Amino acid sequence: MPSTDPLKSSSWAYSEDFVHEDDVLAAARERADEVGVTGIGSGGGAALRFLASVMGARAVVEIGTGTGVSGVWLLRGMPDDGVLTTVDVEAEHQRLARQSFTEAGVASQRVRTIAGAALDVLPRLTDGAYDLVFADGDKREYGTYLSEALRLLRPGGVVAFDNALWHDKVADPAQRDEQTVAIRELGRTIAEHEDLVSLLLPVGDGLLLAQKR
Ligand SMILES: C[S@@+](CC[C@H](N)C(=O)[O-])C[C@H]1O[C@@H](n2cnc3c(N)ncnc32)[C@H](O)[C@@H]1O
Repeated sequence: MPSTDPLKSSSWAYSEDFVHEDDVLAAARERADEVGVTGIGSGGGAALRFLASVMGARAVVEIGTGTGVSGVWLLRGMPDDGVLTTVDVEAEHQRLARQSFTEAGVASQRVRTIAGAALDVLPRLTDGAYDLVFADGDKREYGTYLSEALRLLRPGGVVAFDNALWHDKVADPAQRDEQTVAIRELGRTIAEHEDLVSLLLPVGDGLLLAQKR
């Protein structure tokens, strides 16, 4: 039997902070706090950067730009000619994200910001043209984001969902709010999907990964 002893909280904190954020990311996170959005934690961000790097991801879609915390992590993992297409319903969040990308030294042609609701914008993006899709928008829409991601990804591409553990609520069947139920259903769909290879990383608030075969 594998050990089921829970890790100490000090080990979780050590893992989360294993790759430190620099001043650019700290400033992007401060802007996030100012407008009331939660930027991805350093553990999740480092996982995204690693994924983009090992995949050599040249074309990435992000749903939920925020103020650019995850975008900076992704761009730092992508090759220098990689382009991030990032969607957010709040133009003001994207304005602050552009500031984060500039401070990170990212050339403007490497980021395509599209202001609009994900469910309006995603259908306009090209089928099979993307290596990686990162979803961090409206949790209630995660099921539809999965369908759109599977259309957008090339074979071998990966979709990643942040907040897959949603503040410890997903693992607790007594929690039945709309967002928790949507994320729980997404997890079940992905785990049972025959054409997907999946992994739930317990970094930050949970990062659910699935590769399209
Ligand atoms: C958790 S924040 C994203 C944080 C960002 N990924 C980061 O790590 O810096 C969620 C963002 O999704 C946006 N959002 C919420 N619902 C959306 C929707 N239906 N379509 C597009 N964006 C949406 C919000 O405006 C917000 O900026």
